[in-house]
Amino acid sequence: MHQHKTTPESPIGIFDSGVGGLTVVRAIQSILPSERIIYFGDTARVPYGSKSQVTIRKYAQDDTSILMRYQPKMIIVACNTVSALALDVVRKTSGSIPVIGVLEAGAELAAGMTAIKRIGVIGTQATVCSNAYACAINDLDPDIEVYSKACPLFVPLAEEGFVDHPAAQLIAGEYLADFDERHIDTLVLGCTHYPILRRMIENTVGPGIAIIDSAEAVARRAKETLLERSLLNPSTATETPHLLVSDLPQKFSTLYRLFMGADMPDVELTDI
Ligand code: DGL
Repeated sequence: MHQHKTTPESPIGIFDSGVGGLTVVRAIQSILPSERIIYFGDTARVPYGSKSQVTIRKYAQDDTSILMRYQPKMIIVACNTVSALALDVVRKTSGSIPVIGVLEAGAELAAGMTAIKRIGVIGTQATVCSNAYACAINDLDPDIEVYSKACPLFVPLAEEGFVDHPAAQLIAGEYLADFDERHIDTLVLGCTHYPILRRMIENTVGPGIAIIDSAEAVARRAKETLLERSLLNPSTATETPHLLVSDLPQKFSTLYRLFMGADMPDVELTDI
């Protein structure tokens, strides 16, 4: 277990299996522009969501260890799959620093949003099989009905930047048809890759369904936690994220531009 001294100037470590967690980086940057961010995308091993729990837990430990080299003051798990199956591994590997997972933040937002107590959740195979969203939502309100659907092909579509490609629309139609009969009023994007496909998902489920993207909720939680611990960075400079990937940095650059709407800063290739 790592122990190090953290200060307000220490960075925030964020990781995901690939580019999906950039949706969380964007949300953090918009409310905490002066925070230093170290982002690790495990591009060599994406996707996580179709792997076993044992493998996902091992990856979670590796990812946390990589970020711990930078002595962060907080870790944000920008991956629902790891949040669902291995948050305890991240906590154990990171010692005493706060760890925030996207799943709890998304569940809380959704439970507060549904008026008719019927929520749909889409996520990876591993997230859906873990039932973690339904548990987290029902911990907050046991009367809410939760309907979950794994949409594994959305991750490679997002990684390919197929945001409104006809093939993506066809697949979305197939996956999301299940919700037609469920009469939900809220749909959780339970995978950080999915906000990239948000417009297409919204068009497919039609109007009247609130879409929950946990990135903003997680960013707000991060801010509250730093405030409570007097760890907000007092600087007024705008920071650019420090990016690390485990494979194909160049591919990451195209996707970065697509998701962040800005040119990518330097990206470093790192050994897992
Ligand atoms: N973006 C991740 C999630 O939120 C995982 C996607 C994957 O690697 O399968 O679940």
